Amino acid sequence: MSIDYGHDITEEPLVTKTLLNEDLRNEVSLRPHTLEEYIGQSKAKENLRIFIEAAKQRTEPLDHVLLHGPPGLGKTTLAGIIAAEMGVNIRITSGPAIEKAGDLAALLTNLNENDILFVDEIHRLNRSVEEILYPAMEDYAIDIIIGKGPSANSIRLDLPKFTLVGATTRAGQLSAPLRDRFGVTLRLELYTPEELALIVTRSAGILDVPIEPQGAFEIASRSRGTPRIANRMLRRVRDFAQVRGNGVITKEIADLALTALEIDYLGLDAVDRRMMRAIITNYGGGPVGLETLAATIGEEAVTLEDVYEPYLMQMGFLTRTPRGRCVTHKAYEHLHIPLSGGREGAMDQLSIDREL
Ligand code: ADE
Repeated sequence: MSIDYGHDITEEPLVTKTLLNEDLRNEVSLRPHTLEEYIGQSKAKENLRIFIEAAKQRTEPLDHVLLHGPPGLGKTTLAGIIAAEMGVNIRITSGPAIEKAGDLAALLTNLNENDILFVDEIHRLNRSVEEILYPAMEDYAIDIIIGKGPSANSIRLDLPKFTLVGATTRAGQLSAPLRDRFGVTLRLELYTPEELALIVTRSAGILDVPIEPQGAFEIASRSRGTPRIANRMLRRVRDFAQVRGNGVITKEIADLALTALEIDYLGLDAVDRRMMRAIITNYGGGPVGLETLAATIGEEAVTLEDVYEPYLMQMGFLTRTPRGRCVTHKAYEHLHIPLSGGREGAMDQLSIDREL
């Protein structure tokens, strides 16, 4: 299996969208290999089960699959499971790693019949590469241009039948022609604390760390719906259990560790709180444009949008409106800021909240 993420992986905080080196090692060992072992995402899983079974009965490759949803929910894991369940090889790459049309042509021509090509961050493919993908997906062929100018000639090269599994955090950024060529589109949702507790317990078993059910639930309910964060927290909590406790992950040890890491009881970290506080104190509770907000707190707009907003919205702390982002009264309560601490914008949003 080859993995090429096309960007540097450096020190990052606990809540991050980037796959860290440590995660990569950890995720590979903790990754489920079958649909049976894969916890949560029941809708996507049940649909996939049918499509895989049907394709196998027809001895055909699976139709192209687009996986979308927030980072860290197991898109790469699911692609690996699809390959294992189909009994084929998977080749893993990412949109930014495929720089030229020739790079993609090389990948495609090296596949075996029915193999899976997994392209992470598929919304970041460049146009010329994307255009090669259209006939590849539709007709299992690529058109290669030989020569230049008026004497240039196009020849068609047949490819093995394959399945493209694309993953993206931003399905809206995919061009319509590319989106339309996926036969199956699956949206992955944030996990419930109960599902995450099962994942943490399973991971602790693989890592051979003793864990109490309340310890697993404490980690689960503070990992913002995301298995990657839950597994990363598990390793940090294990460190605390070893040094400050007797090696067993209890609720108390998990709380001690996560509080030391500035993760509050709902899983919000320092950036979440800075973001909500900035909307309240600088923009009267909102609305404020995403770029303005990002500049105010010194983070990138895409990070706020992909990593922070999905959970804050799910928790009911933040709303997106056509005029920008607003906090809700729950955010004031969580931050212990009196409602009068916000100005008119906040009051507008609060009256909307009340009406709703
Ligand atoms: N590890 C990471 N994601 C998982 C999942 N959905 N099920 C089981 N283990 C996991």
